[in-house]
Amino acid sequence: MEYKIPRGTFDILPADSAKWQQVMSAFRETAQAFGYAEITTPVFEQAELFERSSGESSDVVQKEMYRFQDRKGRWLALRPEGTAPVVRSYVENHLEAQGRLTKLYYIGPMFRYDRPQAGRYRQFYQYGAECIGSHHPYYDAEIIALQVAFLRKLGLQKIELEINSVGCPNCSKIYDEALENYFEPHKEELCGDCRTRLQTKPRRLLDCKVPSCKAIAKGAPVMTDYLDSDCREHFEQVKSYLDKMDISYKVNPRIVRGLDYYTHTAFEFLNPALGAQNAIGGGGRYDGLIAQIGGKDTPAVGIAGGFERLLLSLEQEGITVSRPYRPQAYLVLLGEAARESGIRLLGQLRLSGFSVQHDPEKDSFKAQLKAADSSQARFALIIGEDEVKAGTVTIKDLAAGTQMSLPIGGVAQFLALS
Ligand code: HAM
Repeated sequence: MEYKIPRGTFDILPADSAKWQQVMSAFRETAQAFGYAEITTPVFEQAELFERSSGESSDVVQKEMYRFQDRKGRWLALRPEGTAPVVRSYVENHLEAQGRLTKLYYIGPMFRYDRPQAGRYRQFYQYGAECIGSHHPYYDAEIIALQVAFLRKLGLQKIELEINSVGCPNCSKIYDEALENYFEPHKEELCGDCRTRLQTKPRRLLDCKVPSCKAIAKGAPVMTDYLDSDCREHFEQVKSYLDKMDISYKVNPRIVRGLDYYTHTAFEFLNPALGAQNAIGGGGRYDGLIAQIGGKDTPAVGIAGGFERLLLSLEQEGITVSRPYRPQAYLVLLGEAARESGIRLLGQLRLSGFSVQHDPEKDSFKAQLKAADSSQARFALIIGEDEVKAGTVTIKDLAAGTQMSLPIGGVAQFLALS
């Protein structure tokens, strides 16, 4: 039996790990600098949490959720996204009691049963940030700024930001009616999915990729024409904060997010060079979600992005982020007596936190020095018969080719200072 990795998933192999670590650390540093604290929730939750929050008619719930029953018959789901779990935890743990505003970030795998392709996986890694507790438009801009700062920290330059307002539930309702009226006469020309969407969530018609539906959607009314004065003012304020923060954006009134919980601001970060899966991040305001899942009526705004698409973008812009792991030293031992004192030294150095490598199965000087070179260690610590007699270690700088002798007791201090 030959086992294969499940379709749409991938291993992060040792050669790539440093790159992943680096990008994840960069996100952690940025989020912390913006005052966000880390939260980690389980990878599975009650299925209903997602069904209610993402929307029963959303693709995520209809087609993409990994839903299963446990041994007691409870319906669970592998999380397709991170916002609903964070909000569940916020409500369940009464995080609101800790202050007016709760700023949280997370990193972790998400699961969506979608058709795999470049940049789209069934298990993928997201980073996200949620600012819970304020309706102030400043925070819509802050959450966007967090993502911009993260992208800048990585050196990415070709990512574009598109923003929209989907208004409050009242404006949304009027807009959906306008869309229904617009699409109804074209019903027969729409694809099967869109005919259903017309009944459930007409807005999703705007997102259809079928060319004939796309052509009809071109002339559809736009959301921004249906905003009431409060919603319009909120959107104007968000844009004005972005202007002040020197963040460039394009207003795209056709942005439809795949999840149902959005109100007011909705945005996407796009990398046009990535082709079909060009969204590297997205988010928006979700003022109704917390009350919807059982908390007090609390406004919030957030963002999430995909690490895979971020790494693809880095590759395309020719940016290398990984600092390959290099041990400080490689221990070369020649003869039985050297092994005695050498292994003792190895133990001491490692327990003191130095990274030293050694291979007891390599005997000859040549083989050990070759291994030292390929380990990319900075120094070879060499102990042979002469060194044992003198109580010393020969330290060879592998890049410079120079060497020196030190008493065995001085090696730790030498490594600490170099
Ligand atoms: P989302 O737009 O569904 O939003 O996902 C955010 C990002 O996750 C996408 O822009 C994309 O980079 C990445 N992504 C999504 N699906 C896949 C996939 N199958 N393979 C690889 N990458 C993928 C959310 O998840 C919301 N929770 C964002 C949010 C936070 N809204 C408010 N707060």
